[in-house]
Amino acid sequence: MTFWHFFFKNNDKKLLSQDIEYIQPKEVLLINNSDELKNIYIIINKEINLYELEELCDSVGWVRRPIKKVKTALENSFVTVCLIEKNQDRNLLIGFARATSDHSFNATIWDVVIHPNFQSKGLGRALMNEIIKELRCKDISTITLFADPQVLNFYRTLGFMSDPDGVKGMFWYPL
Ligand SMILES: CC(C)(COP(=O)(O)OP(=O)(O)OC[C@H]1O[C@@H](n2cnc3c(N)ncnc32)[C@H](O)[C@@H]1OP(=O)(O)O)[C@@H](O)C(=O)NCCC(=O)NCCS
Repeated sequence: MTFWHFFFKNNDKKLLSQDIEYIQPKEVLLINNSDELKNIYIIINKEINLYELEELCDSVGWVRRPIKKVKTALENSFVTVCLIEKNQDRNLLIGFARATSDHSFNATIWDVVIHPNFQSKGLGRALMNEIIKELRCKDISTITLFADPQVLNFYRTLGFMSDPDGVKGMFWYPL
């Protein structure tokens, strides 16, 4: 699989501290009721049901990963963002992204996904804006990610650039 290493550098002013301090997890109503969407919540650092996450990843055809390893990856993530559709019967996980970090300078975003039934409605952008906002609140200045070739423009519209100043992402895989 080909990936593009993307960078997001932001020199904007640091967000105010009142935006930073909150009791985790943080839950915000994103869309109350629009033509297409109802009761969509964005939740930061929610405890995630691994099987719901697996279902979401299945829905976009991602290769399954060992659930124990996914659990460890989530436990060691710096920020997780979930999009939830709240129904009377159940809460449905419809979007997800997470970031790992050195907690100081750098963060890398992983596992960006929106359920196919909810794609092309602006939710991917909302999810990404939220995770970037969280990272900026934590004073992270360089945000990177690995983009599948078919979603390069999705990330470009969010301000990510490939190869800034000629810098290339490089990979090492076991043979
Ligand atoms: C990529 C993904 C997260 C985008 O989510 P989404 O909710 O459909 O995206 P949005 O509706 O918020 O679109 C935001 C913008 O990106 C553009 N965009 C969305 N998907 C795109 C794609 N696959 N290729 C190019 N541009 C895309 C939209 O046209 C929109 O542009 P606009 O604001 O100028 O209209 C979603 O399609 C997905 O989960 N895909 C499968 C998993 C995947 O590939 N994840 C990324 C792995 S690197």
